[in-house]
Amino acid sequence: MPKPKIYVTRPLPSKEAMEKLYKYCEVDLHEDEKHPPTREELLEHVRGKDALLCLLTDKIDREVLDAAGPQLRVVSTYSVGFDHIDVEECTKRGIYVCNTPGVLTEAVAELTWALILAICRRIVEADEEVRKGRWPAWYPTYLLGMELRGKTLGIVGLGRIGSVVARIARGFDMKVIYYDVRRKPDLELLLGVEYKPLDELLKEADIVSIHVPLTKETYHMIGERELKLMKPTAYLINTARGPVVDTKALVKALKEGWIRGAALDVFEQEPLPPDHELCKLKNVVLAPHIGSATYEARKAMADMAVDNLILVLKGKMPLSLVNPEVLKIRPLEKVKMIEE
Ligand code: NAP
Ligand code: GLV
Repeated sequence: MPKPKIYVTRPLPSKEAMEKLYKYCEVDLHEDEKHPPTREELLEHVRGKDALLCLLTDKIDREVLDAAGPQLRVVSTYSVGFDHIDVEECTKRGIYVCNTPGVLTEAVAELTWALILAICRRIVEADEEVRKGRWPAWYPTYLLGMELRGKTLGIVGLGRIGSVVARIARGFDMKVIYYDVRRKPDLELLLGVEYKPLDELLKEADIVSIHVPLTKETYHMIGERELKLMKPTAYLINTARGPVVDTKALVKALKEGWIRGAALDVFEQEPLPPDHELCKLKNVVLAPHIGSATYEARKAMADMAVDNLILVLKGKMPLSLVNPEVLKIRPLEKVKMIEE
């Protein structure tokens, strides 16, 4: 059996995972780690491939699937989010879509808390004061921020990441409320969290933290109306996906004081241009989509993304299949290309 041909859109930070790819497959690797392939490169290199290992920066739509050809069996993404992939179209074509849930949960939850603390205690502003020699002296009202104890954290999307963010909140003696498309009675008991409809959560929370996936339903879920429901002393944290929040409305809210601040790891436009309105505001903390950027998580994601791809090509169930309906369209035995 000839080795399956695969396109890998970036080198991955796991030597073992990369070796496994080369052991089983004929690998076409986009070697520039810092920049995604251009659209033209993606369309050219995917041609004739049996599998694609992509990142969240690669838009995998009909045009890419057409360019690949009907032999494409699996799209394995090095991310938990899969909003950059047209999953419905993949399913129709019998293409397995795999992702990396779980292994990055703690990393993203920890980054969420880093952002919460940074915005509430004005860490970025404070750092700038020291570096720029603007620290006048210790004085009673210098760089005051919000204390967390006794405050209410509102979690939008109590999934894997949202649940860990809720668990950590206990250590700060906070009350936690949540909104999700489904009520989660088990988690309510386990984590001591209380369900609220979205509008009530927005009215009550001192900190609103977003953890929903980007879907048609969650696009601009937080817009002008929702931001106006929040307390003027509240903070918005987004480590999910940029387009869940309407950026124009958020900038207005931050400028006009509808809310006190925001901390963001994700944006509608990534990379965020440095002349963007958000970069001019003092009451925001900005991070360049580094939620899962720990040595541990990025290696585990690489191992999982590669295992997913190889397992499908061996005709076995991957560790995480986004579109299980595909099993009926092209059963696993029909995707098999690698003998044990
Ligand atoms: P998850 O376990 O699937 O959690 C998402 C939660 O949102 C689930 O409880 C889900 O409910 C709920 N939900 C889905 N649609 C909703 C809607 N319309 N309204 C309200 N709730 C809704 O996913 P996760 O692993 O926690 O990851 C969450 C997201 O974080 C990812 O999709 C990704 O976009 C983002 N992320 C960002 C980074 C980063 O670097 N900043 C890293 C990793 C992930 P059901 O369980 O009923 O579907
Ligand atoms: C990162 O944003 C991911 O979805 O894994």
